[in-house]
Amino acid sequence: MFELMAADLGAGVVEDHAPRARGALVDRGDEFGWHCFMMDYMTGPLADIDRMPRGGPDASCLDRLLETDRLEYLDRDSDRPADVARKRSVIRALEWAGERFGTTEKFAEIALAEVADVADPKILELGAGHGGLSRKLLDWHPTAHLTTTDVEAASVEAMADSDLGRHPRATVRQMDATAIDAPDGQFDLAVFALSFHHLPPSTAARAIAEGTRVAGKLLIIDLPRPPSPLHLLRLATMLPFAPVFPFAHDGVISSLRTYSPSALRALAAHARPGIELQLRGGLMSPQVVVARC
Ligand SMILES: C[S@@+](CC[C@H](N)C(=O)[O-])C[C@H]1O[C@@H](n2cnc3c(N)ncnc32)[C@H](O)[C@@H]1O
Repeated sequence: MFELMAADLGAGVVEDHAPRARGALVDRGDEFGWHCFMMDYMTGPLADIDRMPRGGPDASCLDRLLETDRLEYLDRDSDRPADVARKRSVIRALEWAGERFGTTEKFAEIALAEVADVADPKILELGAGHGGLSRKLLDWHPTAHLTTTDVEAASVEAMADSDLGRHPRATVRQMDATAIDAPDGQFDLAVFALSFHHLPPSTAARAIAEGTRVAGKLLIIDLPRPPSPLHLLRLATMLPFAPVFPFAHDGVISSLRTYSPSALRALAAHARPGIELQLRGGLMSPQVVVARC
């Protein structure tokens, strides 16, 4: 059963040279996606970084097997009502889980600690999905200004139609984390929560370059990539639910696609020389990355 489900989810694909994953960006009609796609075949460094395993350049053989180029429901570019509804259900489940398990509050604490010395911080949230983190930051910080964004038009529309869209200190916009439409140094902090693993390596590096360009600090919070035996255990607990619940399906793929600390270091080095990286996080707790130029 495990093997069948793993096959369905595409586990066991050793390399994320992932034309399909890059294709997700290309499918959205994103010019940068095409640019990267072309550059991957034209230059050395991008080709190399896209061959990097999610476990990093030093990943073990087993870790290299725990990858997939299968897309999450959230990444599938489809206008079919059933697919749109499935995406919305994953976003709603993420919002519910963030509230229910306290991760939204935890992420807000982490974010606010990064701007503790700024009087009226300007914060950019990338890949906000439902906007729960932005709401919490606005609640907890009386003078913070939030620009809440996502690449997905339906999510942006839903956030703009909510209380977030009417908040006097919030702006809701559609934005791609890999091509941020803002001048250098516009924000004190850019936050990208539970989203970084959606990006294949060359575009992930691009998001680091962009986040550190527009903000004094880029905070990435994502799933940890535990040592392989523990990772297998985590996958085994989630797999039985994957065919039934879209949230679990995307959770399994997220787990297979999340980057290790050594991969994150390689991505930052590829993004731009001289980016300073702080990494923290436990074995099972979220991985926290603070990047700055
Ligand atoms: C798993 S959800 C996380 C939502 C929310 N941040 C949370 O913590 O629950 C990932 C989000 O990243 C967004 N995303 C994926 N690629 C992106 C990109 N290139 N730029 C901005 N957002 C992106 C997706 O649309 C989705 O809303």
